[in-house]
Amino acid sequence: MAESMKGLKRTHRCTEVSNANVGETVTLMGWVQKRRNLGGMLFVDLRDRSGLIQLYFDEETIGAEGFAKAATLRAEYVIAATGQVQIRNGEVNESLKTGDIEIRVESLRILSESLTPPFPISPDITVKDELRLKYRYLDLRRPNIQRNLILRSKIATLTRQFLAQEGFLEIETPVLTRSTPEGARDYLVPSRVHPGTFYALPQSPQLFKQILMCSGYDRYFQLARCFRDEDLRADRQPEFTQIDMELSFVDEDDVMDVNERLLAYLFKECLDVEVSLPIQRMTWQEAMDRFGSDKPDLRFGMEIQDLSDLVKDCGFGVFTGALERGGYVRAVCAKGLGDVSSKKMKNIEKNAKDYGAKGLAYIQLKSDGSIKCPFAKFLSEEKLQEIIKAVGGEQGDLIVFAADSFKVVCDVLGALRLRFADELGLLDKSDFRFVWITEFPLLEWSEEENRFQAMHHPFTMPMEEDLDRIDTDPGSVRAKAYDIVLNGTELGGGSVRIHQNDIQEKMFESLGIAPETAQEKFGFLLEAFQYGVPPHAGLAYGLDRLVMLMAGEDSIRDVIAFPKIKDASCLLTDAPNVVDQAQLEELGLAISLPEKE
Ligand code: AMO
Ligand code: AMP
Repeated sequence: MAESMKGLKRTHRCTEVSNANVGETVTLMGWVQKRRNLGGMLFVDLRDRSGLIQLYFDEETIGAEGFAKAATLRAEYVIAATGQVQIRNGEVNESLKTGDIEIRVESLRILSESLTPPFPISPDITVKDELRLKYRYLDLRRPNIQRNLILRSKIATLTRQFLAQEGFLEIETPVLTRSTPEGARDYLVPSRVHPGTFYALPQSPQLFKQILMCSGYDRYFQLARCFRDEDLRADRQPEFTQIDMELSFVDEDDVMDVNERLLAYLFKECLDVEVSLPIQRMTWQEAMDRFGSDKPDLRFGMEIQDLSDLVKDCGFGVFTGALERGGYVRAVCAKGLGDVSSKKMKNIEKNAKDYGAKGLAYIQLKSDGSIKCPFAKFLSEEKLQEIIKAVGGEQGDLIVFAADSFKVVCDVLGALRLRFADELGLLDKSDFRFVWITEFPLLEWSEEENRFQAMHHPFTMPMEEDLDRIDTDPGSVRAKAYDIVLNGTELGGGSVRIHQNDIQEKMFESLGIAPETAQEKFGFLLEAFQYGVPPHAGLAYGLDRLVMLMAGEDSIRDVIAFPKIKDASCLLTDAPNVVDQAQLEELGLAISLPEKE
């Protein structure tokens, strides 16, 4: 029995009513959270996106028929209720914004009924993610998800306001386009008009925003949807949103300045958190050496310590061997983990191996004063004590060692450092530690492809002081690139772009990109650069990641209305899916799949 809302107008959202409205007649509309019958009285919690309010029914006020109707209400029915605001007769509910008032309902309409939902609409549910995402429309009713999406909307609005005030223009760039150079796999869209050809969905608006600078737009931004076919994780989705920007006639400092003010503004307005400016800067090399990561979590110390010098003649083959191969011996000392069980120690070692370690040397300084160190027999007691002293080890601590190449040492100790911090409860979500990472290597050696790849993208400007090494020692050249990192997550990244032909040519050369290939892939950009290109630089944030951290969530799924699961499918719509044969034919496509085993 669904009634219409004809003649009714909603006067407030549920929590817009307060004790300042006592005595007024209001009309509220929303979903039934729960109904309680207490003999001649009936209570309903009404919910909308603002929160909950209590409706109070008695026969005297609403009449026998109305009261009987109220008794049929069930969870998730959509209703309209009109009545007077009154102070609650019963106990005040401290946990509710409207906990001291209720609506004494005079008339009730049931606007629609509901099946019993597969899970309750409440913040703390324990159902599987798959079920939540299949019924995403119900999941989205939960107050914590609503809070996240409301925060997301606020961040987007404030970002637009701030950037407009700073002289940025919001300009849209195409979604049906050509491959963009961000290094992930493209999503392709077949063309009907030109059979056998494909558009690529943009991995970012990179090339278009650089062209906009050529065209004189000076400062551009966009909340841009980006598409990357890559392995999904908690902070990665196949489609996500960037706060993307580009600026003309600027250098790194200008980009960093406007962006730290943007961040400070968002944190102040949304969370009342003061971000103290300027945000700390750290070179890539320092971040790797101290934290084993180019996105260091600075909420805690537990820094990596280099022992290469100290152990070079120690007699322990694992250490000396690694050094002889040009590697490093480094350690992390975890305060208070000295008493971990053997089982746990095995698990930590397995964890290290997942990150490329061949083994995990360790010292447990147990709280009873004893020491467990499987490799103690290989070196002198004196050396062992020196090592412990060098890393500041005390009774109760666990020291773990990595002896390997720079990359493996960083990967292993960087990961263990985070694991230990998590186990020790050092990761406070309300503590926000920003850092700019600068002076990234321009190029990164790819073992797979046996050639250098751009660490950021091929249009990133090398540091002037390193330019003369681009031919002789390309691996040592640093880039004018910067990432903004928050609590161990890469929030955003950008760079100063190359606007000089000769440097761009050298860059393609270092990357092993033949001039013809460069022309074919990015010819339109290179051509545009021949008609007067301003020096320019830019940056893009992952909006989803920013909202995730501001909302205190662990996954960007919880801040995206309709996210995809790990295999990139959407459980709500069942996408991707097969299409009609006729559609395929129109596109000139035939499906050929390897036979399933
Ligand atoms: P980059 O590739 O570093 O730079 O991307 C910028 C930011 O986008 C976010 N991000 C993602 N978020 C969710 N899911 C993903 N799959 C995903 N991939 C990236 C990250 C990242 O820091 N055009 C350049 C920017 C520039 O140079 O101006 C670019 O796209 O937070
Ligand atoms: P092994 O002599 O190979 O038995 O190793 C002695 C100890 O060193 C064991 O605890 C190994 O787990 C550890 N170990 C082996 N390789 C490495 C490495 N590359 N880095 C740190 N520890 C290692």
